[in-house]
Amino acid sequence: MSILNEKLLFLFSLIYICLIITITLAQPNLVYKRCKNTENYTINSAYQRNLDTTLSTLPTTNSGLGFFNFSTGEGSNTANSFALCRGDVNPDECSRCLNDSIVNLRKLCPNQKEAMAFYHKCFLQYSNNNLLNSRYPDRFNGALRPLMDELRGVAAAGDQLLKFATGNRTGPGFVRIYALLQCSPYLTEQQCSECLEDEVSKIGIHGNGKIGGKIVLATCYLRFEIYPFFNQSTRAAPQQPAGMIDSIFL
Ligand SMILES: *[C@@H]1O[C@H](CO)[C@@H](O)[C@H](O)[C@H]1NC(C)=O
Ligand SMILES: *[C@@H]1O[C@H](CO)[C@@H](O)[C@H](O)[C@H]1NC(C)=O
Ligand SMILES: *[C@@H]1O[C@H](CO)[C@@H](O)[C@H](O)[C@H]1NC(C)=O
Ligand SMILES: *[C@@H]1O[C@H](CO)[C@@H](O)[C@H](O)[C@H]1NC(C)=O
Ligand SMILES: *[C@@H]1O[C@H](CO)[C@@H](O)[C@H](O)[C@H]1NC(C)=O
Repeated sequence: MSILNEKLLFLFSLIYICLIITITLAQPNLVYKRCKNTENYTINSAYQRNLDTTLSTLPTTNSGLGFFNFSTGEGSNTANSFALCRGDVNPDECSRCLNDSIVNLRKLCPNQKEAMAFYHKCFLQYSNNNLLNSRYPDRFNGALRPLMDELRGVAAAGDQLLKFATGNRTGPGFVRIYALLQCSPYLTEQQCSECLEDEVSKIGIHGNGKIGGKIVLATCYLRFEIYPFFNQSTRAAPQQPAGMIDSIFL
């Protein structure tokens, strides 16, 4: 191959790589998504038109703090939407993440009336049900508490090598709550249970509380999220750091 050809090849490779990077960057970074499969809409239905309008307006409703909320339509054809950016994301990035996630989520859930997704920088959900229901925190805590109590018992009853438990429970809407609890194995069953109980009593979501949280003490650990953050098929603790959910507010 001549030197010129090699240089051209190199140049084209470079352009190709830049193109791939650009395309990749345009995709919002998906962490977790759920499409609610029990209710679908059909093409050109009133719901689809309302959803189109809702999602094209949603990005313009920034409260100024990265919170977005918009609804269109009436009765069972109402399309509600709600979005949130991670607290440390600037308005430009926030807007880009939301715009990209709207395109992305509708591709992922092409005919479902309700869908939600977490991206690295933003969260998006839409539904025919009211998403900002004031009873949501009560129902969330109502499901979280029994899950925590159950897992606390399992973790505390562990052995001298591992005191650890994970589980999930259905929360309000189609949210599912996942939790992981762990004690230092040298604690007794009672010490473990008390340490976790102490932590459990501090969590839960209030009027505008967090969905998801993490408490780390030297002797016990507790984390819950509304997406699976631990390996379901292993007893080992997760390697993954806390997600953006630590800063999600209702
Ligand atoms: C809705 O559509 C999805 C595929 O897009 C399908 O898997 C699901 O079964 C449908 N649900 C109903 C209730 O028809
Ligand atoms: C959602 O938006 C509506 C206006 O479209 C507003 O009245 C309402 O207060 C908003 N809800 C929240 C929780 O911000
Ligand atoms: C996102 O979309 C809205 C309208 O839907 C537009 O006003 C805004 O400029 C877009 N933001 C970015 C960063 O593309
Ligand atoms: C939820 O927990 C049950 C056991 O209670 C388990 O069988 C199931 O795999 C879990 N589901 C998810 C989605 O993690
Ligand atoms: C989950 O655990 C199983 C069994 O230990 C392992 O084979 C698998 O690679 C793990 N998955 C992840 C994502 O860590």
